[in-house]
Amino acid sequence: MIRDYVVKAVSGVLKEDVSDILEVPKSFDMGDYALPCFSFSKKLRKNPVEIANDIAKKIKAGKEIEKVVAVGGYVNFFLNSGKLAERVIGDIKGKKEKYGSGKSGKGVTMVEFSQPNTHKAFHFGHVRGTSLGESLARILEFSGEKAVRANYSGDTGMHIAKWLWCYMKYHSHERIVNDEKWIAGIYVDAVKKLESNESFAEEVEEINRKLDSRNDEKLNKLWDMTRKFSISSWDRIYHELNTRFDVHYFESEFEKSGKKECKNLINKKIAKLSDGATIVDLKNKGLGVIVLLRKDGTVLYGAKDLALARKKFRDYNLNRSIYVIGKAQDLHIHQVFEILKMAGFKYVDSLEYVPISEIRFPWGKMSSRSGENVLYSEFRDKMIEYAVKEIEKRYKLSSKDAYDRALAIATAAIKYSILKQDVNKNIIFNPKEEIKFEGDTGPYLLYSYARALSILEKAKYKGKRFSAGKLGPEEKKLAVLFGRFPEIVENSYRNLNPALIAHYSYELAKTFSEFYHNCQVIGSDSEQFRLELVSCFAQVLKNSLNLLGIDVLEKM
Ligand code: ARG
Repeated sequence: MIRDYVVKAVSGVLKEDVSDILEVPKSFDMGDYALPCFSFSKKLRKNPVEIANDIAKKIKAGKEIEKVVAVGGYVNFFLNSGKLAERVIGDIKGKKEKYGSGKSGKGVTMVEFSQPNTHKAFHFGHVRGTSLGESLARILEFSGEKAVRANYSGDTGMHIAKWLWCYMKYHSHERIVNDEKWIAGIYVDAVKKLESNESFAEEVEEINRKLDSRNDEKLNKLWDMTRKFSISSWDRIYHELNTRFDVHYFESEFEKSGKKECKNLINKKIAKLSDGATIVDLKNKGLGVIVLLRKDGTVLYGAKDLALARKKFRDYNLNRSIYVIGKAQDLHIHQVFEILKMAGFKYVDSLEYVPISEIRFPWGKMSSRSGENVLYSEFRDKMIEYAVKEIEKRYKLSSKDAYDRALAIATAAIKYSILKQDVNKNIIFNPKEEIKFEGDTGPYLLYSYARALSILEKAKYKGKRFSAGKLGPEEKKLAVLFGRFPEIVENSYRNLNPALIAHYSYELAKTFSEFYHNCQVIGSDSEQFRLELVSCFAQVLKNSLNLLGIDVLEKM
């Protein structure tokens, strides 16, 4: 990593490893790295300004570092741009797709994400968890871990009982079709009908009991068929979103084992019966009370999660297990982790929770309970429509080509807009803004990549020998950014935060555009070198978008 040049130089003077405190200055004019000296004050018994001056004096400019300047308690380092560029370019060309990958991670990590429920909509909110989980899995793998992608769907329980009830009572004359809109529609109708008449609740509970016992053949058949329809509709969505799963768990698998967990908890006196229901009182931990089994014996979400946590570690030789789940389930997941801890679950410290906040449209919240929830597929079609319009403004394409390209652009727009935001911030998604080909958007990044390729094509680039010489400011900025990529990946790996890679991608693309604007490439004296910069830009941007789960396009 290029920051190691600075770390090494400083350790020669201070005998300290400063890799963790080295900063990247806000502006390029202030140097490529900066060392704040405030934390050394106590040990060295000097004020930070003096310390910075001392360090700056003692470090000699050389092959890697061109200039060292002390400013108000900071030491600013300017890397030697020509040498740096040659090295970084060599590195990128040698490693290609692997450039930026690291070895800090080891072992096997399960990432559980997406988790749509059968008989309900795969709504736009699911896209956030799906994009995030896939990106995290890629970042883990790029950093040396083995990632196991897991999905976990609710295919039994009260919401399924509501669906089956509503279908049998009001829609049984309709043909059951493998159509996600129709299936999601029945659920929405169920919620409405149940709100209109309180006495319906008992009918639904009756169905839930039958479903739980699996004794009603007719009901089982209906459940089985509609469940499969839901599941099959997800394949296409995951394909579009560049995701795949190694394992798909379902709540129905954990009904028995969930009940067994409860028995053990009762024996261990962790759980108790209250009014016939099985509960765990976690009030003294500030986590309220969780009901695991209803008084009719039917099993609830929390009990199933206890069994799932164990199964994950039994199925795979996991070192850690990450849950990417909506923030609304914060309490639930902490209750589950706490009970596992009380029950002495060996791997409890290897469980990690990545809470994701909501995603909304400018016109309001989307919810899967009320009628106005937005199906992913409907929304995606709207985005494609916008993208086709943008494409048609610029190119003449057959409608099939335009559609394929528009789908890729729409997907990039959606994923990028989600991943550039910090995980725990609510997002307002504005479709018309995010599909734009300019600004901080996915399409802009794809466009920059395609533009770089077209330059290389026009120049018939082959990658001949070059020498960097003295670099201009835009050239240097590009080279430094290339060099910084591995540390950006490392940071986003440590913080499980793809947003760092998203911000980096945008900065890289913006810098490339400045460079292209100010430096003639084809036909200039430094054509060979500048073409290398263009080619490395394309490679590094491709690698970073890949970590976000976004495929580049050769042409826009
Ligand atoms: N299917 C659940 C839901 O839609 C989310 C599952 C989250 N994962 C878990 N292990 N509880 O609410």
